[in-house]
Amino acid sequence: MHAYRSLPEVVVHLSHDVLGRDEVGARITERIERGRAGAERPLLALALDDRATGRVVGDVMLRLEPSRSISRTPTEEWEGTLGYALHPDVHGRGLATEAAAELLVIGFQDLGLRRIAADAYADNVASARVLRSIGMRHEATHRATSLGKDGTWLDDTAWALLREEWWAARARQATDGSAD
Ligand SMILES: CC(C)(COP(=O)(O)OP(=O)(O)OC[C@H]1O[C@@H](n2cnc3c(N)ncnc32)[C@H](O)[C@@H]1OP(=O)(O)O)[C@@H](O)C(=O)NCCC(=O)NCCS
Repeated sequence: MHAYRSLPEVVVHLSHDVLGRDEVGARITERIERGRAGAERPLLALALDDRATGRVVGDVMLRLEPSRSISRTPTEEWEGTLGYALHPDVHGRGLATEAAAELLVIGFQDLGLRRIAADAYADNVASARVLRSIGMRHEATHRATSLGKDGTWLDDTAWALLREEWWAARARQATDGSAD
């Protein structure tokens, strides 16, 4: 993880700055703690390794929390937010798309989440392509929400998909596939 989370071009759209080795270690420890059953807002964090070399080339995460009522009290349903970062050596090979699509399977099929969301700064073209490719819906663009690392105010795009939309898309794919 240190090999890519220490690179300025990787962290330009991430909430943290370039990370040192110790900071990466602390981050992994924190994620293991939050991954334990019983954590208030559990985090499912997975490493991506390249099958050919066994090298860790990226990580993906799904942050989980109860869906809330309008009075902000937790309901019986849960929702997730996904995120990812990959080493530039492997960008453009479709790995983030493959991994993010798998997170939707875990989230909707295995965990039964009600909604999965993602945020991406509007100038993060690669991330937008990943989100669109896995079938997420662009719901909003919030103008000039955060001061970017280059000193300009960045627009933030909000993406989401509902459980029933994901299952409907799966059913359509299965029908299209069987028609071939
Ligand atoms: C976002 C990120 C995970 C994408 O990883 P990736 O493995 O390259 O993604 P994929 O190969 O699955 O798909 C990327 C798509 O974006 C396109 N793309 C990549 N860089 C692009 C650019 N600068 N301009 C236009 N399109 C671009 C690719 O051609 C591909 O499009 P396609 O699906 O139509 O072929 C990677 O760029 C990354 O780790 N960035 C740094 C961390 C980050 O920003 N995380 C997301 C925070 S919201």
